[in-house]
Amino acid sequence: MKIKHHLAFWGLKARRGIEQSRWFTRLFRLPWAAARAMRFPPFGREVQEEFVSYSDYQRFATIAMALRRIDTEQIPGALAECGVFEGHASRFIHRLAPERTYYLFDTFKGFDQRDVEPGSGEDARFRSTSVEAVLKRIGDTRNLEVRQGRVPETFAGLEAQRFAFVLLDMDVYPPTRAALEFFYARLAPGAYLMVHDYHNDESNWACRRAVDEFMGDKPEGIIEVADIWGSIIFRKERTHGTGAEDKTLQPVPALHAD
Ligand SMILES: C[S@@+](CC[C@H](N)C(=O)[O-])C[C@H]1O[C@@H](n2cnc3c(N)ncnc32)[C@H](O)[C@@H]1O
Repeated sequence: MKIKHHLAFWGLKARRGIEQSRWFTRLFRLPWAAARAMRFPPFGREVQEEFVSYSDYQRFATIAMALRRIDTEQIPGALAECGVFEGHASRFIHRLAPERTYYLFDTFKGFDQRDVEPGSGEDARFRSTSVEAVLKRIGDTRNLEVRQGRVPETFAGLEAQRFAFVLLDMDVYPPTRAALEFFYARLAPGAYLMVHDYHNDESNWACRRAVDEFMGDKPEGIIEVADIWGSIIFRKERTHGTGAEDKTLQPVPALHAD
């Protein structure tokens, strides 16, 4: 199982290298990707042009639409990403919402071995990064707050913070479960929470287990996204309770005879 994930990881890295080379992008990737992209992207063509050549269009398009919606619906709160690695998604998110405070959580040294599935040995992926490299990739560092260390320990001090968009991408169960608990309670009504790797068998379906266990008794239903690793997303309910007390819910109008 682990060999499979190492192969997938390094395979994807090699593929990303080839795909990001200019000649490959111009000749193959852009025309192919553009043909399969949204015809009327709500996030604007200039955004689409920027990421249409990314290897996971559906994932980035979903993030872009969520970020646009929290703006149009004026959902208050900060942004957060748990599991940053080299900062590819961070760069994209920050460029789309540079005015929001954006928290970046990662060890920036790969997995904490206490989080790795029991019996699966050492997992040395994701060590080849640093805070400096990520900040350099992002470029504009206004409103960024880097929290280096192990999730959930790095949540300390943020108890009163509210969030409008959260991306969880840590691949392993303990921090994913802990992050769901922490952020769920702090999502503004209408805020988005996205979990990568829901449909990925890595670490004995770590992300799916964490999501299914945590969301089982919550009113929000998860929505599966058809991106490469099978993300899920949900929005925090706007009203709590049965809805009977919600004055915006009008009774179903009666049918009137002509
Ligand atoms: C798949 S990578 C993130 C990729 C990134 N979101 C992207 O789209 O480019 C997973 C990251 O989760 C981080 N991670 C895993 N467990 C963690 C924990 N308990 N605390 C902080 N970071 C953790 C790893 O260090 C690694 O960088």
